[in-house]
Amino acid sequence: MLHRLLREPPFRLLAKMLTRVGAHSLSSKVLWEAAERPQYALGVLFAARLAKELKIPEIIAIEFGVASGEGLLALAVMSAQAEEETGTRILVYGFDSGIGLPPSSDPRDHPDKWRAGDYPLDPHVRYRLNRNTRLILGDVADTVPKFVAAQTAPVGFAAMDLDLYSSTRAALELFTLPNAQMLPKTALYFDDIVQHFNHSFAGELLAIDEFNLETAAVKIDRWRGIQEFTAFSDSLWASQMYIAHQLAVTPTSRRELAMP
Ligand SMILES: C[S@@+](CC[C@H](N)C(=O)[O-])C[C@H]1O[C@@H](n2cnc3c(N)ncnc32)[C@H](O)[C@@H]1O
Repeated sequence: MLHRLLREPPFRLLAKMLTRVGAHSLSSKVLWEAAERPQYALGVLFAARLAKELKIPEIIAIEFGVASGEGLLALAVMSAQAEEETGTRILVYGFDSGIGLPPSSDPRDHPDKWRAGDYPLDPHVRYRLNRNTRLILGDVADTVPKFVAAQTAPVGFAAMDLDLYSSTRAALELFTLPNAQMLPKTALYFDDIVQHFNHSFAGELLAIDEFNLETAAVKIDRWRGIQEFTAFSDSLWASQMYIAHQLAVTPTSRRELAMP
């Protein structure tokens, strides 16, 4: 009852403020939207808990599109917290060209909006990463197949922030290439789907639609029931959360995740 009451405004704003100061668990930060990037916090904590439930000792968390590095650094910090809370080991990877957006005149890549070289990588990022975080440089069309071929743990969370349709399509091969490994429900965040110029015929939204049309074994859908995980389910970021569902049911994927 108290829990329900606390979720109502203005109590939830008070809970958010109180959780932002002092040392609180990542679980509390997720519930009260008190993490620096709440979308990353929810994604990585969900993945770590699901892996624990499925008795999978190690998972991978990815940011596609690194640029300034602030997102990757935040993901690394939150992954360390999720690891401490759940016991699931988390390896963090950032994928980036190193030289900003690739050139494209394809209307599906929004050349009306983006230019080649936008958002170049901050060269100092690599020196700020912790020992569990790696930067993989190059076009994702080349680096993702190599990464999957050598993959040793399932992906549990991926933040998609490559901006372009073509780059996002290439990155989503993460779930379809031979040797691809993912949690049966892999959390996803799509950064470029909620602005006025976004539509289903270009960009990340088109990449999702095409992926679902062409892939039978895995389907990407909006994260339904997100209010179970955060008291701020009406925030914009919550509408950008998706889940990649592996449709084949295995004995391990049958277990249910209780959260928080
Ligand atoms: C908007 S920025 C990422 C911002 C970052 N996620 C953050 O929150 O600070 C987009 C990035 O995607 C990268 N990118 C786009 N297409 C790519 C591709 N095909 N291969 C590798 N990197 C790509 C660009 O280099 C650029 O740094």
